[in-house]
Amino acid sequence: MQTWNPETYDHNGAFVHGLAGGVLEWLNAQPGERILDLGCGNGHLTAQIAATGAIVRGFDASPQMVAAARSRGIEADEGTAETLPYAGASFDAVFSNAALHWIHDQDSMMRHVHRVLKPGGRFVAEMGCHGNIAAIRVAIAAVAARHGLDVRRDNINFYPTPEEYAHRLERNGFQVKQIARIPRPTPLPESGMEGWIRTFRRGVLESLPEQIRDTVVNESVELLAPILRDTEGNWTADYVRLRFVALA
Ligand code: BEZ
Repeated sequence: MQTWNPETYDHNGAFVHGLAGGVLEWLNAQPGERILDLGCGNGHLTAQIAATGAIVRGFDASPQMVAAARSRGIEADEGTAETLPYAGASFDAVFSNAALHWIHDQDSMMRHVHRVLKPGGRFVAEMGCHGNIAAIRVAIAAVAARHGLDVRRDNINFYPTPEEYAHRLERNGFQVKQIARIPRPTPLPESGMEGWIRTFRRGVLESLPEQIRDTVVNESVELLAPILRDTEGNWTADYVRLRFVALA
């Protein structure tokens, strides 16, 4: 499982919630609505949703992130989306940003989300789309292969096409209202590609022998520089998002 360090994440990954305006607009939370934030992370977006007057509950698989969300005053629970609790719940909406691509059993997650929504309730989410961070993934795999290492763990994320995901949502009882592939080249903070790899590919790095990890990071950065770093030294990651609204 990918492990998260809330401080490193705050430092290198603040753009994740900073760029979530579009999916929040699609959610269109209303005062008094009961909303579950699936994969709430450090609770930054959960707090933004709560500020609309909605009653929001966070849920995340990482104990560190649940603790970070609670320290923000968010009510949050720890667990996996494939075995979502909340028996008898009837949320108005389930929201998720940058989390669904970590879920192994997508059908099970969808069935549980459907169960906890009231009839007609909204499942509104953004996740990685087919082709997401393709250059970065290929670079890390190529560098690892150079050293005789196999980073199949780098395929832990599920990045479907809109068509594939819409069919899956429908098979699990949802009516898809909107779904879109959104290319979103993402400027990285000062820590650049090295910070990104150390934060977002931490699980992959930890699967490699310790003495080779820095080499894999440095050589991946070098390989990516002509592609994703501009002449002024700024990095842009090749994110592609999948965003949807589906009704239970
Ligand atoms: C993403 O949001 O696309 C993402 C998150 C973590 C690692 C890689 C990509």
